[in-house]
Amino acid sequence: MCGIVGYVGAKPALDVVVEGLARLEYRGYDSAGVALLSDGRLATAKRAGKLINLRKALTESPPPAGTLGIGHTRWATHGPPNDRNAHPHTDCGGTVAVIHNGIIENFATLRAELEEGGHTLRSDTDTEAVAHLIEDELKTAGDLAEATRRVCGRLEGAFTLVAVHTGDPGLVVGARRNSPLVVGVGDGENFLASDVAAFIAHTRDAIELGQDQIVELRADGVTVTGFDGLPAEVKEYHVDWDVSAAEKGGYDYFMLKEIAEQPRAVADTLLGRIGADGRLTLDEMRISDQELREVDKIIIVACGTSFHAGLIAKYAIEHWAGLPCEVELASEFRYRDPILSRSTLVIVISQSGETMDALMALRHAREQHAKLLGICNVNGSTLPRECDGVLYTHAGPEIAVASTKAFLTQLVAVYLIALYLAQVRGTKWGDEVFAMVQLLAQMPEKVEKVLETMEPVRELARSLAGEHCVLFLGRHVGFPVALEGALKLKELAYMHAEGFAAGELKHGPIALIEDGLPVVVVVPPRVRDVLHDKIVSNIQEIRARGARTIVIAEEGDTSVEPYADTLISVPAVPTLLQPLVTTVPLQVFACELATAKGHDVDQPRNLAKSVTVE
Ligand code: F6R
Repeated sequence: MCGIVGYVGAKPALDVVVEGLARLEYRGYDSAGVALLSDGRLATAKRAGKLINLRKALTESPPPAGTLGIGHTRWATHGPPNDRNAHPHTDCGGTVAVIHNGIIENFATLRAELEEGGHTLRSDTDTEAVAHLIEDELKTAGDLAEATRRVCGRLEGAFTLVAVHTGDPGLVVGARRNSPLVVGVGDGENFLASDVAAFIAHTRDAIELGQDQIVELRADGVTVTGFDGLPAEVKEYHVDWDVSAAEKGGYDYFMLKEIAEQPRAVADTLLGRIGADGRLTLDEMRISDQELREVDKIIIVACGTSFHAGLIAKYAIEHWAGLPCEVELASEFRYRDPILSRSTLVIVISQSGETMDALMALRHAREQHAKLLGICNVNGSTLPRECDGVLYTHAGPEIAVASTKAFLTQLVAVYLIALYLAQVRGTKWGDEVFAMVQLLAQMPEKVEKVLETMEPVRELARSLAGEHCVLFLGRHVGFPVALEGALKLKELAYMHAEGFAAGELKHGPIALIEDGLPVVVVVPPRVRDVLHDKIVSNIQEIRARGARTIVIAEEGDTSVEPYADTLISVPAVPTLLQPLVTTVPLQVFACELATAKGHDVDQPRNLAKSVTVE
C-alpha cells in the first residue's frame, strides 16, 4: 500500500526520493508525488498513475534543487486516484507538506471543524486535514515536532505521517501509529521510509520505530520520542541483504527471480536451526520449552497466501506435535469471540509483518493473554516486535506482489515449529524428529529439481491463456496447495479460479465441470494409499464429464497416467512436505499464463504488497 520516503542530507533530495519511490513501487499504488524544501520554499509535484507520469512532470517543470524532500506513492482509499488527491498535501499557506499511510477514521469531523475555522481543503482525502491541523498547531506549538505530536493526539485510526515545514528547512518529522515506518541512518544524511528497500542503496543501518513514536530527522542526527514527548528507546539493526537483492538481476520480472530463488530461500530458512546432533534450536523463539509444554491449543491466524501456509501447518502440528490446531483468517478472527487462555499459542504468519488484519488479530489475542509467536520475513517490522517469540523466514526481500519464495519459507518455518514442539513435548522420539529434519534438509535440492523441469508447465500455461476458468483440486495438504494455485491465478491472470477439497467435489463443485474445463489436481504420494486412490477416482469422475485434467503427481506414479491430459511430475517427498514441491509448478503456471495475457505480474491490478489498512 502507500509508500513513504523522506530524506535529509547533502545529496539532491529529488533524486534520492524518486529513486526511493521507485523501490517502493512494488507495494502497489495509483498516484505519486514529492515535496522539496529549497531556500525556505516548498515545491510540490504530484501525478495520478505510475511514477513515469510524475517523472515526466518533474522533467517538464523541474522544482528548485534542494537537499530535503519527501515522497509518496498512494493507494487510494478516500477519493479517486487523481492529481488532486495524490500526496503530499499542503496547508492553506503552502508552508506545511504532509504525506500519510493509513486511514484517519475521524477525518470527517476534523474536516468539518477545519472548514468552519476558515480553512480551504482542496482534496477528498483524509490526509489533507492533517496539514491544516498542523498549520493551526504551529501557531502555538513552537516547532513542527510538537505540532505533529499534538495533531496525532487528535487522530483516530492508523497513520504514519511525515511532515515538513518551511519554518525549519532542515527537519523532517515522522509519526507512526499502526502503519510501517523505518529510519535509515547514513553518514551526514538520514532517511525515513515505509520499508528499507527505499534507502538500501544508501545505507543498511536502520532503526525500528515503535507504536506512537515521533522521529525528528536532521542531516546530522535522529531523535525519537513518544507521542507523550518523552525520549523513546529505539532498536537499531543492520539489514542483512543489499541493493542487488532488491533488483531484477537480469530477470524480466521480480516474480521470476523470486521463484528461481526458492531453493536458496528454503536453505537459508533452515540454516543454523539444525544442530549437529539433529536437534532443532530456534533461537528467536523467546518462549521457553516449559511454556511450550504447557500449551494445550494452537491457533494460527494469517491472510491470503500466508493463511494457506497456516492451513498446511495444521496438518504438521497435529500430526507431529499432537496438539489441537485451528487456522483462521485474521480478518475474521478478531471479530468473533475466540476462546483463548494463557495456555493457547497463537501463531501469526505474515511475510511483511505489517498486514493490518494480522496485527489486529495479534493484539486481540494478546489482550486475552495467549502466547504469541510470529512467522515473519521482514526484520524491523511490527509483527516480530509485538510477539513473544519469532521465527524469521530468510527469504530475502520479496518484491513481486504475489508471494512465492515467502510462502515456501513459511512452510519451512511451520515445519520447524511443529517438529520443535514434537521435540520439546516428546510426542515423537528424538530419532523420528531427526529423520524428518534430515528430509527437510533435502528440500532445497528437491525444489531445484522441480524448477529444472518447468518448460512443459510454461507451454501448458501459454496454451490456456484464452481460458476463462481453471479449477484446482487437492486433498489433505494438497487442498491448501489447490487454494494457493487458484489464488495465484486470480491475482495474476485475473481469471476465475477456485480451489476445492477433492472430497467435496460431489457436494457441489462437480456441477461446474464442462467440456474442456481445465482442472488441476494435486495428487498425494502413493504412500498415502487411501487418499491417493480416492483422488485418482476423483480425476476419473471429472474426466468422464469432459474436464481437461492437469495432474501433479510424484515421479513414477504411473497409476495417474491414463487419466491425465497433462502430467506434471514432481520429486517424491513425504506427504507433509509435498506442498514444497507441488506449489512451485502452480506458481510458474500462473506467472506464465498471466505474462502470456500481457499482464504485469509484479504489480497486478488493484493489489498492494502489504495491506496496511483494514
Ligand atoms: C498473495 C499474497 C497475499 C499475501 C497477504 C498477506 O500472493 O501475497 O495474499 O499473502 O496479503 O500478506 P502478509 O504475509 O505480508 O501478511
